[in-house]
Amino acid sequence: MDIKISPSILASDFSRLGEEAVSVQDAGADLLHIDVMDGHFVPNITLGAPIVKCLRPRVRLPFDVHLMISDPLKYIPDFAKAGADLITVHLESGSTAECIALIKSLGVTPAVALKPATPAEAVFPYLQDLGMVLVMTVEPGFGGQKFMADQTEKIRAVRNECAKRGLETDIQVDGGITAETLPLCAEAGANVFVAGSYIFGAADRAAAIAALRA
Ligand code: DX5
Ligand code: ZN
Repeated sequence: MDIKISPSILASDFSRLGEEAVSVQDAGADLLHIDVMDGHFVPNITLGAPIVKCLRPRVRLPFDVHLMISDPLKYIPDFAKAGADLITVHLESGSTAECIALIKSLGVTPAVALKPATPAEAVFPYLQDLGMVLVMTVEPGFGGQKFMADQTEKIRAVRNECAKRGLETDIQVDGGITAETLPLCAEAGANVFVAGSYIFGAADRAAAIAALRA
């Protein structure tokens, strides 16, 4: 399957967000990962649809919007209108079937994310309707945390279930991804890799993305 690299702008300089996004686009990114946190579903607040809308005309990369919010149903239309290409909702936020149907109806690709404590089987009922499954490899809320190696078994379980059903669903991992941890996830069946601090913290972002891809 195609490997895709999705830099997380959470680790960028928010005072220069447009330039930061263009910098990873020029460095060879495939997607732009946008972390939306509401201070309720997770203990941190980041950004909302108005900022995504401002970024849209400046960046060509598809927008991979990761909603870590308590009421995704209420805000999905705003993010679709703002230019999201892919919208990920957390299974733990609830109303999963309704969210997926709404995202699809707006012409956006739906994805579902699992927190570390949520078992792989929880996403199985939705698999056939999803473009992507996100297996969190840290507790959502903050960048720069340590990769949870035990999540690789969950990646493997989701990949096996997709294979069993003949689905070529993307499996994304997010949290603590580096050139050292990425291969563990790839071996288990992940093919879309979010990286925040590893890319934005690098002196040479193109080299960092190339190292992940290698
Ligand atoms: C965490 C976010 C991640 C975060 C990853 O809740 O979903 O996207 O930005 O950051 P790193 O790559 O630094 O772990
Ligand atoms: Zn994320």
